[in-house]
Amino acid sequence: MARVVLGVGAGIAAYKACELLRLLREAGHQVRVVPTPDALRFVGEPTWAALSGEPVTTDVWAGVSEVPHIRLGQSADLVMVAPATADLLARAAAGMASDLLTATLLTARCPVVYAPAMHTEMWEHPATVANVSLLRSRGAVVLDPAVGRLTGADSGAGRLPEPQELFGVAVTALRRGQPDLAGRRVVVSAGGTREELDPVRFLGNWSTGRQGYALARSAAARGADVTVVAANVELADPAGSRVRRVVSARDMHAVMLAEAAAADVIVMTAAVADFRPAARSDSKIKKDGRPPEPIRLTENPDILAELSARRAPDDQIVVGFAAETEADVDAARGKLARKGCDLLVVNPVGNGRGFGSSENEAVVLGADGTSTPIPRGSKEALADAVWDLVAARLKLPAPALSWYPAAVIRHVAGLLSG
Ligand code: CTP
Repeated sequence: MARVVLGVGAGIAAYKACELLRLLREAGHQVRVVPTPDALRFVGEPTWAALSGEPVTTDVWAGVSEVPHIRLGQSADLVMVAPATADLLARAAAGMASDLLTATLLTARCPVVYAPAMHTEMWEHPATVANVSLLRSRGAVVLDPAVGRLTGADSGAGRLPEPQELFGVAVTALRRGQPDLAGRRVVVSAGGTREELDPVRFLGNWSTGRQGYALARSAAARGADVTVVAANVELADPAGSRVRRVVSARDMHAVMLAEAAAADVIVMTAAVADFRPAARSDSKIKKDGRPPEPIRLTENPDILAELSARRAPDDQIVVGFAAETEADVDAARGKLARKGCDLLVVNPVGNGRGFGSSENEAVVLGADGTSTPIPRGSKEALADAVWDLVAARLKLPAPALSWYPAAVIRHVAGLLSG
């Protein structure tokens, strides 16, 4: 059981924090809800008190003898602020302590995760951008908001991620402690590509994207800047990630190459079709009373092999996934060498394992000859274990100031080392 402070800012998305609170409580955690005074305009004190089973105060003047603003921050294992408004981020960045929540943020020594929610204009305003950079540079995790429907009829970046997603982030933050991927840019491919035969049919596979989304959520919870390239995934967007949607292997190839240029880590979990129909019919293929014709196929680009070959090895870590129906480690070593990546996560699929399942297991083979078994467990646990192996291989120290461009950091590190 962990002690969690759930900070709630004055945004309409405060109602989603009720569900997050319920998930945290069901997982056995003790949760102290600390709303800002204006947050109570959206969801009232009795709701928070009833759902948490704890007293709810918003100012530093209640229960002064217990010094709550110091005690709460000092004793917490995690502070999660959801939703974090533009005003709250600004006050936190400025180190203000004008209510119990901001005072608690100053005394917290545990991981602090902000889940911002606001209108797109406010999120993109240079003031908010600077505040977010400052908070990140000081070790806080600030999740990028989700893209979608906002308060009114408008939509854009600024939505609070779904409560289940935020819960996943909280679990990782509690498990991992301080964010060890802060300032790292990671790109994760997820899902399964579809290769069209005609306007209504395609060749596809069973991948749901769950493992890739777990990797994205885990990386965001550990402070990384995450982009997901999602092929035909029907899950809620992973908290804290930008999602770029693709359909076919060739779409994914183009988007991955573009996104990889600025990445520190690339993880290919997507099930990419090796082949596509040599020709796509513009109209629906008919039976027309003829015997069926074989489908002629042509080869797709091997994205993982190409990304591995293109990178400067000291600049990027590349991770592949190999879903195998038979666990044959020797063959998998051959695949690792063929693909040229740093790590290959070999996991069994078929017969109820892998695709669509909430659990996974793997052996992670390293180009350096290492072999690390990851026992059967949740896809989240496997994601955390993969990031542990990646973090151990990242050569440069995590940038102290996350707004420094990666190129500047590499240049300075190069000067220092050589
Ligand atoms: N992969 C890729 N591009 C492809 C095929 C696969 O980038 N055209 C990536 C997958 O995302 C995965 C890794 O390569 O990270 C291994 O995929 P897998 O299907 O096991 O490899 P294949 O090369 O297709 O080998 P096999 O003959 O076993 O299908």
